[in-house]
Amino acid sequence: MVKVCVIGSCAMDLVVTSTKRPQAGETVLGDKFSIVPGGKGANQAIAAARLGAQVTMIGCVGTDFYGDTILENFKQNAVDISYIERSSEVDSGTAHIILAEGDNSIIVVKGANDNVTTALIDKSLEPIKTAHIVLIQQEIPEETVDYVSDICAKYKVPLLLNPAPARSISQKIIEQAQYLTPNEHECAILFPRINTSQALQLYPNKLFITEGSKGVRYFNGEQEVLVPTYKVNAVDTTGAGDTFNAALAVSLAEGNPIDSALKFANRAASLSVTKFGAQGGMPSRAEVEEKL
Ligand code: RIB
Repeated sequence: MVKVCVIGSCAMDLVVTSTKRPQAGETVLGDKFSIVPGGKGANQAIAAARLGAQVTMIGCVGTDFYGDTILENFKQNAVDISYIERSSEVDSGTAHIILAEGDNSIIVVKGANDNVTTALIDKSLEPIKTAHIVLIQQEIPEETVDYVSDICAKYKVPLLLNPAPARSISQKIIEQAQYLTPNEHECAILFPRINTSQALQLYPNKLFITEGSKGVRYFNGEQEVLVPTYKVNAVDTTGAGDTFNAALAVSLAEGNPIDSALKFANRAASLSVTKFGAQGGMPSRAEVEEKL
């Protein structure tokens, strides 16, 4: 069983489902309101655990009811929460999601996720040093991502950086990360002066650009390859990217070749969109393997 350490955000997703997305200044009537667990870090931790990895989550939640719910959800999914801190000064993170017209729009209020500090990382070195792979995203402070990147480089632990939501990152982090998984928009922010193909060629077998329902593109050292997704009936695409990242991390940590790891990740992500909620459709290992 591979050990995966996820460092990132935990949140509750407050989701409104509506047929129409309101314009600025407009009010529309929605269809449904739901509160479900989310946060990119938590989503990736839960997805990796369902795929059979031994997962430790490093993060922070409030001492509020949402914090209780988030921790209980981790327990039910067999994620180790020994390194999740609780802060009484700030509320747990929330994501405010509109599901309309076949896609989502999200506003994240980071809350306690801003307390995922370098000090918390210092207290959490053990699961980082002993992991087969570390997964990190960008809903936590920039300096923490930078710090984790140095630690992973020092202890030679592969780091998969999912640079979402988009922000520019230093060349040092780009070099230190073993894998980078931006979408096209995030890629343009990461590499503002070159086009996608040039970026891919600079980072063979390391830069994986996700292109939504089309699939994932990378350069294998000889040519650019698009690994296509699987066609499914999409109900809710929230969390698809997180499922992709978790599955890719698990499969790479297991030592699988990149092409088959990407197929595995695509399959897991495709299954994840067939149910409501960021974590609602995240598949088990058996479900992914059956379909593959
Ligand atoms: O990647 C999807 C996640 O982004 C949602 O669950 C929401 O919490 C936002 O952080």
